[in-house]
Amino acid sequence: MYFQDKLIWLTGASSGIGFALAKELAKRGGRLIISGRNQEALQRLQQECADQVVMVLPFDITDQAATLVAAAQIQQRFGHLDIAIFNAGASQHTSGNTFEVEPYLNMMQVNYYSMVYGVAAALPLLRQSVCPQLVGMASIASYTGLPGGSPYTAAKAAVRNFLQAMAVELYPTIRVSIICPGFVATPLTAKNKFKMPLIMTPEKAAEIIADGVAKKRGEIHFPKRISLVLKCVASLPANLKTRLLARTIVKI
Ligand SMILES: NC(=O)c1ccc[n+]([C@@H]2O[C@H](COP(=O)([O-])OP(=O)(O)OC[C@H]3O[C@@H](n4cnc5c(N)ncnc54)[C@H](OP(=O)(O)O)[C@@H]3O)[C@@H](O)[C@H]2O)c1
Repeated sequence: MYFQDKLIWLTGASSGIGFALAKELAKRGGRLIISGRNQEALQRLQQECADQVVMVLPFDITDQAATLVAAAQIQQRFGHLDIAIFNAGASQHTSGNTFEVEPYLNMMQVNYYSMVYGVAAALPLLRQSVCPQLVGMASIASYTGLPGGSPYTAAKAAVRNFLQAMAVELYPTIRVSIICPGFVATPLTAKNKFKMPLIMTPEKAAEIIADGVAKKRGEIHFPKRISLVLKCVASLPANLKTRLLARTIVKI
């Protein structure tokens, strides 16, 4: 089994995709360091994963100093990391009619800068592993700007471009995977008032992500029926894409 005894740091493990992914990786033999802010949820997860959770490491990902302290605790206890999975993030809806700066700052902080802090903290630990992997959560919303969620899509585009650049810079020593899911039924999407096509369970998403990480896929995107369509839309000429998206009824 690919994950057997690998030491994996997973953020956003207290809820949704991260919670399900922790259980999936534990089932596949991974040794997990789980992070989030909700300590009660992390402890519940630890109980459900029996001995596979080797460390509960709560911290706020938007706090660079706290991220470095978390990594120092991993260094002190284990001295290395085999896989770092930066999954934590948040979304926020906006309307073009009432433009505000705040959501853009918030979304960049929680989705993008947190990822940069995490990577900076994890790289020295990954360099101590024989086959290190860096995995980051973007979204299919990173492929192009989408109506109703421009702060989120902009931040996830930053995440995807950052990880793509890291994939080249770290190749072949540290392999990088970018995760781009479509809709997954979690607290994050529960607030959406629109129809979410092909929405899947976090357990199914976790299975696909674990398979992709085990195969060291550069990009793990799903469900393909949506991700491939959105990739095509993203490559259309700008004015055509604008007209098409302006008519779309799915607002992210
Ligand atoms: N659900 C989808 O359809 C979907 C699609 C594409 C991409 N994604 C991405 O997948 C990731 C997980 O989302 P989800 O759907 O599973 O949402 P979720 O259930 O709301 O989980 C979000 C996770 O991120 C953690 N988190 C958020 N802000 C944090 C902070 N400041 N410090 C530490 N941890 C923080 C939360 O932990 P605490 O609350 O304990 O802090 C929680 O564990 C996100 O990056 C999201 O953008 C989701």
